[in-house]
This record gives sequence, structure tokens and C-alpha cells, in this order.
Amino acid sequence: MQQVKAVIARSKGAPVEIATINVPDPGPGEAVVKVLTCGVCHTDLHYREGGINDEFPFLLGHEASGVVESVGAEVTDLAPGDFVVLNWRAVCGECRACKRGEAQYCFNTHNATQKMTLADGPDAGTELSPALGIGAFAEKTLVAAGQCTKVDSEARPAAVGLLGCGVMAGIGAAINTGAITRGRSIAVIGCGGVGIAAIAGSALAGASPIIAVDIDAKKLETAKRLGATHVVDSSKLDPVEEIKRICGETYEGADGADVVIEAVGRPETWKQAFYARDLAGTVVLVGVPTPDMKIPEIPLIDVFGRGGSLKSSWYGDCLPSRDFPMLVDLYRQGRLDLDAFVTEEIGIGDIEAAFEKMHHGDVLRSVVVL
Ligand code: APR
Ligand code: ZN
Ligand code: ZN
Repeated sequence: MQQVKAVIARSKGAPVEIATINVPDPGPGEAVVKVLTCGVCHTDLHYREGGINDEFPFLLGHEASGVVESVGAEVTDLAPGDFVVLNWRAVCGECRACKRGEAQYCFNTHNATQKMTLADGPDAGTELSPALGIGAFAEKTLVAAGQCTKVDSEARPAAVGLLGCGVMAGIGAAINTGAITRGRSIAVIGCGGVGIAAIAGSALAGASPIIAVDIDAKKLETAKRLGATHVVDSSKLDPVEEIKRICGETYEGADGADVVIEAVGRPETWKQAFYARDLAGTVVLVGVPTPDMKIPEIPLIDVFGRGGSLKSSWYGDCLPSRDFPMLVDLYRQGRLDLDAFVTEEIGIGDIEAAFEKMHHGDVLRSVVVL
């Protein structure tokens, strides 16, 4: 057991605070990781606001890179000193999804078995709930060994750590869920960190056109830098008509995009995605709706008549062991600009300020450097 500094959310809506926590020595199948960097994601804010569940206190942070410090018994493919990106879907290898070769849908993903606890004050000993089973706004954290994905140790930690959540979700929504490739058109509605990553992934896969849609002109500028061939300000123009027009100019007879990614998480933008795709096209919902939201009213004949598929994308349907090292290699070759996602590097005490900045639209990711 050792004590380290970490950022916790103690109660619903209260500002986050720095606390000392106990990190147990790794047990069987576990690893202790010295965290190098951790991005600030919307999900951390949702935890703090009580929007995920009520299991306070939370140990926040889940978009991290680090170095393995120690491993427990039965850990064979990970060793102290390994540079890793943490993932929140360590697949079990044994459930029905894993057995049928679709481990990206694993029904029984692993986290550490032992609990990290508060070290000081009247609540000392209280078990912490790590965000997405990670908890990496901490000098060190305890995870399941399978949550550590080894990647090229020459890569910049702040950049590749972002593959641990939002950037992987976006790239994977395009490449894995949407199966985007050369000769396919794509539109992305919502150009925050996730949507921009979907655009970068589409560019990597050779899609054309790549149409970025947002209500914020600043986001559209970033989208162009990361590979959008066209941008649509949907606060001014009807995005459905614009997407149809742009695709029709590229491919004769096209009446929309082959794949439309919804990266906002709202019924009205999902409806735009539904109607902006071409016949037999695919809608990918990667934005996360709130529990009160409903599927917008759409005539069932339109669902039937347009064919194609309506999908959702969890974590970009990624397989961390397959996708993280591959994307880090493309980054190292200069083909995927992960640095562009790191708007600022901040300290462990700056997380509340980073939450505040999320509302302003200037920041793709604030990354805590530990
Ligand atoms: N039409 C188009 N774009 C919109 C609209 C709209 N009606 N409303 C909001 N947006 C844009 C915002 O301007 C912003 O650029 O959607 C983007 C959302 O980006 P972020 O708030 O930065 O969120 P991000 O981190 O990209 O995540 C997007 O995916 O993982 C989930 O929980 C996450 O639901 C969220 C979504
Ligand atoms: Zn499984
Ligand atoms: Zn996240």
C-alpha cells in the first residue's frame, strides 16, 4: 500500500478537491501505474454532477498514459517500466461476445478487484469509485492489467493518452462502427473532441467528401485543419440539405452521405443524421444522450424505405490491444495529428477551470500532466 495525491469528487455538484488516497499493492491480475498524463473529459464532469451514478466519492480521470510501476501475480504480458495507455474496456476473453470473436462487445470487461480508499480525515478508509474503472487524476492508480495497453514509448504521453477515451471513440466511430473507407462520403454532426476525431479518422481512411457540421464557427475551423473537406454552420444553414448538396456534387445521384456520425448526443441532431444519409447509408450515434431523451418521431416507413443501418458506437467499438498501438504508429509517422487535440497542458489543481472551459468551445482537450 502507498499514499498518493489525487483528485476526487466528494459529493454531488461540489467542486473537485485534491486528497491523499491509499493505493493497494497490485493483487492477482492487477497493476499499479504511475500516471504521466490524463485528459479532462465530459464524463468526469458528469460523474461530479451525479449524472452517472451516486457512488460518491469518485476518483476522477480516465484518459491517461503512464508507466507500469508494479504488477501482481498471474500478470504475464506486462512489466514494470512499460509505457501504456489506459483503457476502460479490458476484455475478458471468455464471455459469449469474446468467444464468437467480437471482443469489442465484451459483456464482462475487467477492472481492479481491490479498492483504492481515502487516506485522511474523518472519512479515511472510504472506498473510492474510480471513473470508468480507471481514476487517473492521481499520481498512481490501481487497474486491471488488461486495462494497460503497451504502446511505442517514444510517443508524447499527453497526445497518445487521449486515445484512452474521446479520441478513440471518434476515430473508431468512423473506422470501426461506420466502416468508412476510400470512395465513401461522411458527415460528422458535432465537432467537439469526439467529432473532430471522427473527422481525422475519416481522413486517415481516405473518405471523401468529409463534411463537418457544427453551430460553432471556431469548431469548424479546427475541423478543416484535421481533414474536413467541407464545413456547414448549422446555426445558419439546413445541414440535411447541405450534406445532400455536397455529396451530390461529388457523386452523381448521391442523395446524402454514406455514413453520418452524430457526435452531439441529442434527438434533433440524430434526426438530422437520419435524413442526411443516402439510401442504404449508416447512422452512427457516438454522442451520449441523457436518460430523458427519446428517439425523435420518424415515420416507420422512412426507416424501412431508406434501408441501411442505425448503429451506436461504444468507445468507437475499439479493441484497445489492436487499435491503440496501430494509431500510435500512425501518429509517430505523422499521419494522425494527435497533438492537435491537446489544447493545453495543466496541473492537477486546474481541473475545475478545465471543466469551466468546456462550455466555451475554445478547448478540444485540457490534459493534466502529473
Ligand atoms: N448541431 C451541431 N453541433 C452541435 C449542436 C447542434 N445542435 N449542439 C452542440 N453542437 C456541437 C458543439 O458546438 C460542440 O462543438 O457539438 C460539439 C460537442 O462537443 P463537446 O461538447 O466538446 O463534446 P465531445 O467531447 O466532442 O463529446 C461529444 O460524445 O462522448 C460523448 O458525452 C460526449 O455526448 C458527448 C459527445
Ligand atoms: Zn468478454
Ligand atoms: Zn471520456
